[in-house]
Amino acid sequence: MNWNTTSAADRQHFDPAEVFAAGLTEHHLANTAYPIGHVTTMRPYRVMRRDAEMDRVAALAWDGIDQLGLYVHVPFCEKRCSFCEYTVVDPKDNQSAEDTYFDLLMREFELWGSAIDSTRKTLIGFDIGGGTPALPKVSNTARVIEAAHKHFRFQPGMQISIETTPRIAANEPQKMRDLKQLGIERISMGVQTIQPSLLKALGRTASAADINMAARDHIGVAGFEKFNVDVMYGFARQSLRSWQETLQHAIDLAPEYITLYRMRYKGTRIAAQADQVTLDQIHAMQTLAKDMLYAAGYDANPGKNTYSKLVGDPGTSDYLTERVINGTPYLGLGLGAQTLSHHTLSYNAGAAGKNLALYQQKIEAGRLPLQDLYHLSREAAMGKMISVSFYFGEINLAAFERKFGMSVETAFPHEVAFVIDRGLMEYTDSTLRLTPQGAQDYNGVIALFYAPAVQEHLLKLVRGERTRPVRGWRRLWQPEYEALKLATA
Ligand SMILES: C[S@@+](CC[C@H](N)C(=O)[O-])C[C@H]1O[C@@H](n2cnc3c(N)ncnc32)[C@H](O)[C@@H]1O
Ligand code: SF4
Repeated sequence: MNWNTTSAADRQHFDPAEVFAAGLTEHHLANTAYPIGHVTTMRPYRVMRRDAEMDRVAALAWDGIDQLGLYVHVPFCEKRCSFCEYTVVDPKDNQSAEDTYFDLLMREFELWGSAIDSTRKTLIGFDIGGGTPALPKVSNTARVIEAAHKHFRFQPGMQISIETTPRIAANEPQKMRDLKQLGIERISMGVQTIQPSLLKALGRTASAADINMAARDHIGVAGFEKFNVDVMYGFARQSLRSWQETLQHAIDLAPEYITLYRMRYKGTRIAAQADQVTLDQIHAMQTLAKDMLYAAGYDANPGKNTYSKLVGDPGTSDYLTERVINGTPYLGLGLGAQTLSHHTLSYNAGAAGKNLALYQQKIEAGRLPLQDLYHLSREAAMGKMISVSFYFGEINLAAFERKFGMSVETAFPHEVAFVIDRGLMEYTDSTLRLTPQGAQDYNGVIALFYAPAVQEHLLKLVRGERTRPVRGWRRLWQPEYEALKLATA
């Protein structure tokens, strides 16, 4: 397979200064969750929505790819937090749905297995994510890991990673030991905040300081090699003081890694609160975090969100590290999961409705459970790879050139000149990396590397212009729009 023909919108060129300014203005949108504005920006690349055609293209896309990451989505949680951007089914349906869901996942493994001849391919990273993948019975998680072994080769030393809430880790120490026994070496726990009023307002009952400590102890006893703690900032009504207390608590938990998530509002139940949070508040929180974490022995280059205590270890799961540095293709299984090959991007059914109906229906019909599949142009694929690179605040120059057959400077001559002239990025031995100033202006810098159609979308938002087809767009596009705006993580 090769790149798709570049759309007219992706043949445009915009002034870097204008795009940079638009990224800063639309700072709640211009981030690593790429692309945005699918309905218009990605439309020219959409593969016809016929199951047989989507199955054919989706399978073809994996020809010649020998190494990949695997992501398995588990859409269950004890309770839905109002800030969450992920695909989670209504918790009241959990019990009846769990076994059915894992049965469907097993069938999805089989379907992909035969479509792409998976036993010849090697996993270089494997994340079980959610939702809360520590919530289901361990026997179901065991089925997922067995299926991965049955259908893929495992790169020696590759680590499997899973996520838990503090409450599960605190209440179920045996489960932590059992998960470790399955061969999972890295576990990530979402603390988010310890501010009680904020936890309450966000509908989150899963984290409180004493629960987090007990959770940490059980994870330690279980013997996981790598422990990460997630904390979040950028909430309305989150004071700098409360952020400081949360950071101190995360440090006191003494994990190997701490990941900072800036709240992304798009598609969440509290999307309307985005305007209450200014870029100045965000900067103050980022600076405080950097200072506290450095002082506590955690390191990250400017713009990187995962701080690591271990020298030479980026702190992210193998799956994410490979995606970020090398743009390695990944297969996403499960409700609403995203898949990226070199030339295609697709989303599984279920992100919008957050129920199993369509996903189940497709699998039971013997089809890959795809909702939307895009055959990417080189520009669209570059935008995707570089956006994800910014998780680490830098673009790996050799990886980019390997993937696209040209240097970053050839692909983005004006943009690279702009970031160097303005002191926003600088060269290291192997990367083009954000400077401290560039990290402050992160949202502007990342937008410079978006595909032109996506830049145009941002520019139109700033100018207050319509960005969607006008006449009858709701009837024609609403379901797709709803699906995609929720499926970008
Ligand atoms: C899939 S969630 C799962 C973890 C687990 N269910 C929990 O809540 O502890 C992974 C992380 O994404 C982050 N996250 C969730 N919603 C987010 C949002 N709207 N914006 C930014 N980060 C978000 C949280 O820090 C969370 O720990
Ligand atoms: S933040 Fe975690 S527990 Fe809360 S709804 Fe999202 S995935 Fe579930």
